[in-house]
Amino acid sequence: MSPPSILGNGKDCSGSAAEEIYADINWDELGFNIIPTDYMYVMKCAKGDKFSQGSLLPYGNIEISPSAGILNYGQGIFEGLKALRTKDGRILLFRPEENAQRMKIGADRLCMPSPSIDQFLNAVKQIVLANKRWVPPPGKGSLYIRPLLMGTGALLGVAPAPEYTFLVYCSPVGSYHKGALNLKVEDKLYRAISGTGGTGGIKSVTNYAPVYTAMSKAKANGFSDVLFLDAATGKHIEEATACNVFVVKGNVISTPATDGTILPGITRKSIIDIAIDLGHQVVERAVSVEEMLDAEEMFCTGTAMVVNSVASVTYKDTRVNYTTGPETLSAKLRKTLVGIQTGSLEDKKSWTVRVD
Ligand SMILES: Cc1ncc(COP(=O)(O)O)c(C=O)c1O
Repeated sequence: MSPPSILGNGKDCSGSAAEEIYADINWDELGFNIIPTDYMYVMKCAKGDKFSQGSLLPYGNIEISPSAGILNYGQGIFEGLKALRTKDGRILLFRPEENAQRMKIGADRLCMPSPSIDQFLNAVKQIVLANKRWVPPPGKGSLYIRPLLMGTGALLGVAPAPEYTFLVYCSPVGSYHKGALNLKVEDKLYRAISGTGGTGGIKSVTNYAPVYTAMSKAKANGFSDVLFLDAATGKHIEEATACNVFVVKGNVISTPATDGTILPGITRKSIIDIAIDLGHQVVERAVSVEEMLDAEEMFCTGTAMVVNSVASVTYKDTRVNYTTGPETLSAKLRKTLVGIQTGSLEDKKSWTVRVD
């Protein structure tokens, strides 16, 4: 099914992009909520086979057996990436092959076949083009793309499912979190199955619901998010619900090493490179709670939140405040990253992929 070039109730957005057609929504009010778009991409394969042919379908509910592997045993992973519209009308993806690669690693860990890198990229490009009118105007947000890989075949005993579905949908989004973050350190519950043999290093769907108890409690007490500690010793910081963390002291930036317990974030990796290029020293290692409390600046990175300053961290009864605002290192790093993602800064590392 090939999508029509103009999809439904589009309207001219405004002067500079007069030829562009946009969906009829208020682009100034985007948050991080699902807004159904026009198309999703679906590709299936049987256990033991390779994915071969997928297609675009109208976005909507999917039918699934009550005994599907994903529903009963959590055999599923997901990805998250963004398409951004540049001021001169291009649409750019940011390092999508990294997401494809990470999905492959997660699929291997959960005993699932995965789409090839090319199949992943092709599906993502198709979904952006088919839903082009949902890519926000420059500066208003981005099209968040959510690839899913799940065991959809039916079974009763605990085992890899007999059939798999790769599905990609998308939604226009604005800011994930407005303003600097106030984090609560969780010292009783842990984020994911810990240790290097666990699943903390992949985007398994099973890593997220275990966060909700601590996150809901923290939010009810006025915090923005929870910061998790390593389950082995409870002495080192790991990551927040859906982002990696960095602490800054002097010219040194430290971030927890990706040794299997935390997600190797693509934003994290990019920010490390940008910081080094700007002349900073970046160290990937275990970061203790004490070091974090002693830091001058702290920030979080992730596709959804990009780079966000941490205003405060609360550990047991201790609350420390960090430097925030336009002069911080995180503001500088964010500006560079967003500049590359939106095409306003030169992409010297070929991180962006043009879709249109
Ligand atoms: C647990 C967790 N950590 C970190 C990240 C940040 O990763 P990325 O920068 O690839 O979005 C995410 C989001 O994908 C996440 O879910």
